[in-house]
Amino acid sequence: MFAWIRNALSEDARQRGIDTGRLSFFKRVGGDLSSGGKAIFEILGPGSSMPLWVAKAARSPEGNQTLRQEYERLKVLHQRIPPELEYSLPRPIAFDERETGSVSLETALPGEKVSRLLREHGQKDPWRTWKDHCGLALDWYILFSRDEPRHTRTLDEDWWQRRVIRPLEEADDFLRDLSPHWNEVLEAIRGAQSSTSKSLLQDLIPHGDFTPTNLVVQGDSIGAFDWSPVDSELPPGCDLFHFMVSSGLYLGQSIEKKLHLSELRMNVLSDKRFLEPICPYLRQYFNDFSIPLELVHPLFLAAVGCKIVAYVRRPEPIRESICGWLFSVHCWMDGKLDQAVHRACKVHSDLIP
Ligand SMILES: Nc1ncnc2c1ncn2[C@@H]1O[C@H](COP(=O)(O)OP(=O)(O)OP(=O)(O)O)[C@@H](O)[C@H]1O
Ligand SMILES: [Mg+2]
Repeated sequence: MFAWIRNALSEDARQRGIDTGRLSFFKRVGGDLSSGGKAIFEILGPGSSMPLWVAKAARSPEGNQTLRQEYERLKVLHQRIPPELEYSLPRPIAFDERETGSVSLETALPGEKVSRLLREHGQKDPWRTWKDHCGLALDWYILFSRDEPRHTRTLDEDWWQRRVIRPLEEADDFLRDLSPHWNEVLEAIRGAQSSTSKSLLQDLIPHGDFTPTNLVVQGDSIGAFDWSPVDSELPPGCDLFHFMVSSGLYLGQSIEKKLHLSELRMNVLSDKRFLEPICPYLRQYFNDFSIPLELVHPLFLAAVGCKIVAYVRRPEPIRESICGWLFSVHCWMDGKLDQAVHRACKVHSDLIP
């Protein structure tokens, strides 16, 4: 694998004046090669402390397929990305699949992870950190979404059953034991299914995991990696709702000084200081895509439902994350956030309660 990587990087390395014989490889902690997951290697040049490239490796049939689809998606994105956004995505360099497994190579995006900045305990002003990074991330996303091809579709009852309700019901025992909010969440999701059946919705292919852990900032620039394989069935707006929930959890960890998501108690999502920075972007997005405002609530549940299904289906379900996401749905309903977001999308954002 390492000989293949050195060879695949030779042109890129030559342009940067780097001898491929002097590259260093560091495997990141985590990454499970055996169960459909991927292992990540950071590749550094001589004397550099930041990785210049990232190699992703898989060894199972599902892992190989996902890696290939992620790589293909990055290639297509690169072909049509406007020049001002070009450096905000990894550049795909090479992909190789053999009987023993597969490897992909892409450029490393420099900077600090937004998740680390939001979650940091003891910071002076977490709400300021949120305001700044929400602005950076969502200005980027709105710009990106305007150049992406659009398609139209409906989330009918078959969609809800297939993509959200049945997979969640199958995990009923597991979810019931995990969180006191499970019943309330399932009821809300069941109640939402008829409300999207008649609307023809406009959508772009979402990133698929647009959360602060897949975003890095350096000064005023932001970058997004970990582009999921194309899934044209994800619900419209899901990237924004995923960003919202995930950011609320990181911020909660910082404010409540908690390591574990299952220990969070504060309803960050309903706080004015959380909503004010994000609502103008939700308004902008719903407006740009002509999405009726009464769909804010069912689309939120659709987005979060899909995310919990993805967590439940991992070979090792991530209990902590699932607890956090179920708690967030509870917070959304407790704070009647559909109405707050609805109002903020219609009128000016200083009317948020
Ligand atoms: N292009 C990149 N530039 C900088 N860092 C990267 C890049 N790709 C991956 N990384 C680092 O490796 C980590 C894991 O990679 P990635 O996000 O693609 O996989 P993952 O989060 O393990 O997969 P998944 O989100 O599908 O579970 C990232 O969180 C990031 O720290
Ligand atoms: Mg990731």
